[in-house]
Amino acid sequence: MNVKDLYIDFFLKHGHKQIPSAPVVPENDPSVLFNTAGMQPLIPYLMGQKHPYGTRLCDYQKCIRTNDLDEVGDTTHHTFFEMLGNWSLGDYFKEESITWSFEFLTSVLKIPVEKLGVTVFSGNDSIPFDKESYEKWLSLGIKKERIAILEDNFWIAGESGPCGGDTEIFYFRSDEEVPQEFDPEDDRWVEIWNNVFMEYFKEQNGAVKELPNKNVDTGMGLERITSVLEGVNDNYVSSIWKDVINLIEEISKLPYKGNEQSMRIIADHLRTAVFISADPAGIKPSNTDQGYILRRLIRRAIRHAKKLNIDIFSNWEEQIAKLLIEKYKKYYKELEENEKVVLEVLKTEKEKFNKTLEKGLKEFKRVSDKDIDATTAFHLYDTYGFPIELTKELANELKINVDEKGFQEKFIQHQELSRTASKGKFKGGLSGNSEIETKYHTATHLLNAALKQVLGNDVHQKGSNITEERMRFDFSCDHKLTEEEKIKTENLVNEWITKGLEVTKVEMKKEDAIKSGAECMFIEKYPDIVTVYKIGEISKELCGGPHVKNTKEIGHFKIKKEEASSAGVRRIKAIIE
Ligand code: SER
Repeated sequence: MNVKDLYIDFFLKHGHKQIPSAPVVPENDPSVLFNTAGMQPLIPYLMGQKHPYGTRLCDYQKCIRTNDLDEVGDTTHHTFFEMLGNWSLGDYFKEESITWSFEFLTSVLKIPVEKLGVTVFSGNDSIPFDKESYEKWLSLGIKKERIAILEDNFWIAGESGPCGGDTEIFYFRSDEEVPQEFDPEDDRWVEIWNNVFMEYFKEQNGAVKELPNKNVDTGMGLERITSVLEGVNDNYVSSIWKDVINLIEEISKLPYKGNEQSMRIIADHLRTAVFISADPAGIKPSNTDQGYILRRLIRRAIRHAKKLNIDIFSNWEEQIAKLLIEKYKKYYKELEENEKVVLEVLKTEKEKFNKTLEKGLKEFKRVSDKDIDATTAFHLYDTYGFPIELTKELANELKINVDEKGFQEKFIQHQELSRTASKGKFKGGLSGNSEIETKYHTATHLLNAALKQVLGNDVHQKGSNITEERMRFDFSCDHKLTEEEKIKTENLVNEWITKGLEVTKVEMKKEDAIKSGAECMFIEKYPDIVTVYKIGEISKELCGGPHVKNTKEIGHFKIKKEEASSAGVRRIKAIIE
């Protein structure tokens, strides 16, 4: 059994339910581009909403972090990684959480206790020292020299949200003798697991209040724990990457040694690109948001392929993507289901970049009779998609200079502008429980039912996204809606709202719910007993809520836009007035 299976097995034995990995593009949290931690899809539940699977959960979650994109190329950074996690939603707390983490590491994975060190929260002005965790570790046999008490052991995803003190577990990854004292600043000690005791909520304005429940949120990076267990200091030579690196060696006819950086970048970036483009959100390379990240990843991989003298017009990227899909499809079936889409995305973007690459090279030739200033370097980046490294490399060959510092300043300004733009666009933060979001949530069910009446029963929900300002609804449909279809749909929804239909909720067996014809988007996401929301006689859907009690509460529904989302999927943007 591999670590992923051992981990799930262990927590199932301790009364947890396995939840499926959520998509990499968050379904209900427009405040971030990607899920960056296992807890992200669980935020509403950490805040008190009842989870359909109960109070003890575990999973492996696909995560993407692109803030340290530039660090990829070293031995440990990845843009995509899998996070193993277990959660208590107001169930067990520090005692069990620490005991199980210790047991899993030392008894299941057989890591010697002598190689472990831990950190514990020292407390601050408003929150006391975490004495309970400290004493628990001592009682399990961790020596006091191996426990570091730190003030910054407090975990939160971003600026606001559920948070709390944490205790981190470190492993001494080195052939040297393990020092008596644990020093978290010493790079030979690597963090392998983080147990966060989420009992607070930090507001946007900085105020911290208590959550309704004391929760546990733990996260362990699969890539790191695997390399620890396999005794390697470079993640890319562990079993997770070995075959991918071997294939890149084969395609480029070059050895890994001496070409590590480019090979790691190609392997890492293509893996992330494969997962993003296989996601149900249907992301395509573009110049904004997730699409922009996807574009940069693919282009950076292409540039490094070129650096390795790989014929970039050949099907090199397809070979690598196919291997990645093969490796991961057992755990993530969307990779296999969307294989065609993934290969198409990579190929199209490659062809596009190959075109601008040529034009960009011409432009470079034109401007390279003198040193490249910041504006020119930025123009090459912005218009021809040239990463600064490429510009520098070309300049080096001609022995001219590039104002890299000036470029970075412009780049940061540009990034800040896009960040501000996306913050503005996504203001409203987490979607979930506010009154207006609840109304939108019920309106989503009504829209789903109305589309079925107008277009036929083949119409199925493909995704939805709610903020305080609007709702977005994706559905399968092979044509652009006519004006008449749009009006009919809008009128039906408003008719049902005005009628004042009761919204009721019942719990039933999943199979009975499906037999009764209840709508459901991701059947595998639901446990055996499910909640079904009914709206009068017109809609029946498996759903976790929350919803209004009566459709009258919703207000007036208006379709603002209908457009293509991806092949065979249309998107409606609508508001409530
Ligand atoms: N949320 C914490 C982390 O990402 C523990 O899962 O480290």
